[in-house]
Amino acid sequence: MRLLVTGGAGFIGANFVHSTVREYPDDAVTVIDALTYAGRRESLAAVEDSIRLVEGDICDAELVDNLVAESDAVIHFAAESHVDNALDNPEPFLHTNVIGTFTILEAVRRHGVRLHHISTDEVYGDLALDEPQRFTEATPYNPSSPYSATKAGSDMLVRAWVRSYGVRATISNCSNNYGPYQHIEKFIPRQITNILTGRRAKLYGTGHNVRDWIHVEDHNSAVRRILEKGQIGRTYLISSEGERDNLTVLRTLLRLMDRDPDDFDHVTDRVGHDLRYAIDPSTLYNELGWAPKHTDFEEGLRSTIEWYRNNESWWRPIKDAAEAQYEKRGQ
Ligand SMILES: NC(=O)c1ccc[n+]([C@@H]2O[C@H](COP(=O)([O-])OP(=O)(O)OC[C@H]3O[C@@H](n4cnc5c(N)ncnc54)[C@H](O)[C@@H]3O)[C@@H](O)[C@H]2O)c1
Repeated sequence: MRLLVTGGAGFIGANFVHSTVREYPDDAVTVIDALTYAGRRESLAAVEDSIRLVEGDICDAELVDNLVAESDAVIHFAAESHVDNALDNPEPFLHTNVIGTFTILEAVRRHGVRLHHISTDEVYGDLALDEPQRFTEATPYNPSSPYSATKAGSDMLVRAWVRSYGVRATISNCSNNYGPYQHIEKFIPRQITNILTGRRAKLYGTGHNVRDWIHVEDHNSAVRRILEKGQIGRTYLISSEGERDNLTVLRTLLRLMDRDPDDFDHVTDRVGHDLRYAIDPSTLYNELGWAPKHTDFEEGLRSTIEWYRNNESWWRPIKDAAEAQYEKRGQ
């Protein structure tokens, strides 16, 4: 297959490109990425001779049209993805997440190209800690932040383009990812690199907010399965059923890095901080026969810590700026 991967220099996209090159050597991979602060050429350095990287904006209709025309499928990862940045300035989220997705949809419509759209469980809002029902494909959308609202908007556009124009698209909404190449502004790599640089770990509020953690390789193997076997027009929820609260995750990281479990600072909570996300992935398990491989969360964290230890040259140049940004917000 000739694959066009949008946002392939970001965290999940780069991991997708790595696993595609490794496991599907006959696929031809083109990446379009604007190389924003979140996209790093360095994340694709190990596969640069096996792929084509085009630096460009997914809102550039002419460029997108040309790249889509020569592809069999588009895997659409590109997005502005950090909730805290969305709260500071929502405009880039509207641009990339909404107009960017519209631009991709128009191109796949014109050329009859298959699309898989990557989205998030945050479109469903949040759950009470003791809510027995988890998110399913039928849960009504109820986004809380400018990030999740623009992702919800992009999902709605994809659904409408399937219905109105017969675009061959699928959607997946996944829970929180962790693993190599994740920007250090995000919760898990921020704590790891804080500890590695002699800073203290930081916890928003009480730390009782629950996230449903999945290893990025499991997310991407599910995406591949949906691309190959998913039913056009369907939405699939991806999770490896890894619910944990932030305090537990932080204390596990501290223990795995030989620190005292109380060696962290409480910092100002995120405004409108969603309490709990939890996905019921049974459709994906039952209909597409998918199962995660990284089911031991502690082992996944251990290997992620190792990756950050061994790849300081990847994150070190951006660490001070990321922390300065947090400091401005009192976090
Ligand atoms: N990280 C998670 O836990 C998670 C969970 C569920 C879903 N998702 C979704 O997965 C996708 C990828 O997330 P991520 O964590 O890898 O994000 P990321 O921020 O690490 O990467 C996003 C990439 O998109 C690129 N990009 C941004 N604007 C662009 C534009 N206008 N044109 C071209 N490229 C542009 C960036 O340069 C970057 O390489 C997003 O759609 C996100 O909503 C993420």
